[in-house]
Amino acid sequence: MRRGLLVFLVVNLLIITFLIRSVSTLLSLLLEDAAADAIHHAELPSPNSSLIEQRPQIIPKIIHQTYKNESIPEVWQEAQQSCKDLHPDYEYILWTNEKSREFIAAEYPWFLDTFDGYNYPIQRADSIRYFVLAHFGGTYIDLDDGCNRRLDPLLSYPAWVRRTVPTGISNDAMGSVPQHPFFLRVIELLQSYDRSWLLPYITVMYSTGPLFLSVIWKEYMAENPTEAGRVRILMQDEYNRYSWSFFTHHVGNSWHGKDARLIFWMGQHWVLLTVCGFVLAGAVGLCLWWAYGRLLIFGSKYRFRYSKVPNLGFSRYPSPSRRSRGMMPILLRRVSSKGDEEVGPTETSYEYCSRRD
Ligand SMILES: *[C@@H]1O[C@H](CO)[C@@H](O)[C@H](O)[C@H]1NC(C)=O
Ligand SMILES: *[C@@H]1O[C@H](CO)[C@@H](O)[C@H](O)[C@H]1NC(C)=O
Repeated sequence: MRRGLLVFLVVNLLIITFLIRSVSTLLSLLLEDAAADAIHHAELPSPNSSLIEQRPQIIPKIIHQTYKNESIPEVWQEAQQSCKDLHPDYEYILWTNEKSREFIAAEYPWFLDTFDGYNYPIQRADSIRYFVLAHFGGTYIDLDDGCNRRLDPLLSYPAWVRRTVPTGISNDAMGSVPQHPFFLRVIELLQSYDRSWLLPYITVMYSTGPLFLSVIWKEYMAENPTEAGRVRILMQDEYNRYSWSFFTHHVGNSWHGKDARLIFWMGQHWVLLTVCGFVLAGAVGLCLWWAYGRLLIFGSKYRFRYSKVPNLGFSRYPSPSRRSRGMMPILLRRVSSKGDEEVGPTETSYEYCSRRD
């Protein structure tokens, strides 16, 4: 094989390896069914079962919700009230913007700049729920989710989250004991995920939202947490198929709707997206190969123009210290002697590139 081609292939392979490594968690998330940590029907006592009393309850009886201020819009009042009514013995905390900021400033001052710096209010609403769960423990419920039965059976797990479609976990209802290692990890990593991804919904999803949480979860699970560190998963069947499911879904928040639609769409079309990815990668590869060929031909012409001057820079057998620089002209010489051959595939790939445009 020609050395030029070899160098080209190796460089491409390195780039592809790097790209796959950087998205490997996302790829593996697509295949994750969460079965290992699922909370199965059989272990959830029915609503009035005496078994509920016998299970140790380790998550504190606190319900956390978030809204910008105390005036909850009418569409969500019914859902909010259903949770309050079913849990008169639980402490209820509504985290308003003001209260959230005070809490972060007092307890997690290192996070305050990030918290204030978020471009979208939903990012603050997302992040505060992780902090209050890590700090106080309890159950967080989105304002658009109502309660259908008491949460008591879920208090028996050190931490639980809900499975979402098509993959990963959601952050709309979660429970945890205080200082659970998973939520500690989540709040620790929030800062490093505070990046902009151009599109608002991807930025929100991946900096503080469900995609962020799912990626951390996937990496966390790979470390085989102990029983106390496990995060149990409430599967979809458990929360929307049966009449004794825990939550009822009310009118959604526009942000969540958009996110869910995008993710749902991507999940349904992931085969198509993968094929498109490969086609795109192939096209980019061909274009690069074409550009690389051009560069070599250009380089060889350039070199020929100056080769009338006796070989100044490069001796035939470069000394070790110069070897890396010495490689280049050898490469060019090989290509220039085969210049005609180079034209065929070059033009094909050029056509291919322009067709893609
Ligand atoms: C559970 O008990 C409550 C009050 O005793 C009752 O209103 C409710 O219908 C019962 N639920 C089920 C599923 O039996
Ligand atoms: C809460 O915010 C809404 C909308 O921004 C505003 O109309 C309302 O007056 C606020 N309520 C309080 C108690 O500040």
